[in-house]
Amino acid sequence: MWNFSIPYVLKFYIDAIVQSSYMYRYNELGQPIPLVHGKKMICISTRGGDYSLSSPMHTLDFQEPYLRSIFGFIGITDLRFINAQSMDVTPALREVAIASAIEEAKQIAQNFGWEMDTAPKLSTVQVCSINLFAD
Ligand SMILES: Cc1cc2nc3c(=O)[nH]c(=O)nc-3n(C[C@H](O)[C@H](O)[C@H](O)COP(=O)(O)O)c2cc1C
Repeated sequence: MWNFSIPYVLKFYIDAIVQSSYMYRYNELGQPIPLVHGKKMICISTRGGDYSLSSPMHTLDFQEPYLRSIFGFIGITDLRFINAQSMDVTPALREVAIASAIEEAKQIAQNFGWEMDTAPKLSTVQVCSINLFAD
């Protein structure tokens, strides 16, 4: 998370791919029609603070709603989020966040029926590098 939303590099990527007649089109009534079908997506984020439902900072999370909106707009509605939160609070909380994110990722991959790389030991940096493959 950068400033309650997504880092500019991810925004750049979205701007590059989400364009009319490529990921969506308009019908004759001017309604947007998604052009992406049958795709599932997992968004894995890291946040310095805690934006979970029970946190007073929850309403400042513009990241997940934006990603749900933009990918939903192009047709990806089966979208799961793994948010590793409180990464910058204490080293202990960071480790807990990483461990639970990895567990969530494994659970979701299993539910999706995806194969997952068996990384021997995932480090802090590698939490964003869990390789999930759709069939
Ligand atoms: C420019 C910038 C803006 C950030 N903005 C937020 C923010 O709004 N909320 C938050 O919780 N963390 C924020 N952070 C902290 C990062 O989200 C956090 O350190 C995260 O763990 C970084 O993950 P990474 O090491 O995978 O890049 C920001 C970090 C940077 C560099």
